[in-house]
Amino acid sequence: MIKIDNLAVEYKHFNSRLLALEGVNLEAEKGETCAIIGPSGCGKTTLLFVLAGLTPFQQGNVIINEEPVRAKRKKTALILQDFGLLPWKNVWDNTALGLKIRGSRPDILEKRVRNILQHLELYKFKDYFPGQLSGGMRQRVAIARALTLRPDLLLMDEPFSALDAITREELQSLLLTIWHERPMTIMMVTHSIEEAVYLGQRILIFSPVPGTIVSDIKNPYFGDPRLRERPEFYTLCHKVRTLLEEGKSNGKKRN
Ligand SMILES: Nc1ncnc2c1ncn2[C@@H]1O[C@H](COP(=O)(O)OP(=O)(O)OP(=O)(O)O)[C@@H](O)[C@H]1O
Ligand SMILES: [Mg+2]
Repeated sequence: MIKIDNLAVEYKHFNSRLLALEGVNLEAEKGETCAIIGPSGCGKTTLLFVLAGLTPFQQGNVIINEEPVRAKRKKTALILQDFGLLPWKNVWDNTALGLKIRGSRPDILEKRVRNILQHLELYKFKDYFPGQLSGGMRQRVAIARALTLRPDLLLMDEPFSALDAITREELQSLLLTIWHERPMTIMMVTHSIEEAVYLGQRILIFSPVPGTIVSDIKNPYFGDPRLRERPEFYTLCHKVRTLLEEGKSNGKKRN
């Protein structure tokens, strides 16, 4: 589904340059979920933007479903860190936005938006505006909008970071349920070790900038909705924490 070969991304800052990503190699299967975790500023958002076709790269190859990455791929959905909701549009219109932009038939749009809003328990609030919703509800609207596109690739940038612990766990479980119903490839950036272990079939640990993958951990416990109650969960969280700390100190030595 995803094949990245020797990717490097450099940004220009007036007279200087900043190498954000270097030597990134990754292959992900269809339906696989990858959690991306690493220090602030190491290029995680940059990688998601590259996969969405929105950031150009100077070196390497990025293939999605056997085609070179491009911005207009219809089955890629991106959920931004700030949810990307339009404050002047209500829940229904915000959810329908992606389908509208893609020129969907009105009857298909109507049916999909209604189904998804009902599924995410938002239908009652369809006339509310983003300013009248809680953070968790706004997050669900952003997820609803992405899911109306029936994506085969879902890119999420720290999707649950602004939420309280319980709402966050509820939405993580909801995402897992949705994935079980309709598996799609998910690339999710997170700063939370627990979230990475709960939602990542694979956990990709990045080095400090220029970011590269320093560990690729297979998570054999992925998919269990009660994983948080198992001792294996804590053992894996501990392993990820140790690798993150090692990556950070190796990065300091490198820089
Ligand atoms: N549009 C841009 N123009 C110039 N530099 C950029 C741009 N976007 C990101 N950068 C730089 O690239 C580096 C990586 O940024 P990026 O946003 O990908 O990091 P991140 O890993 O997502 O960080 P965080 O965890 O804080 O969100 C940073 O040093 C940042 O300053
Ligand atoms: Mg970021």
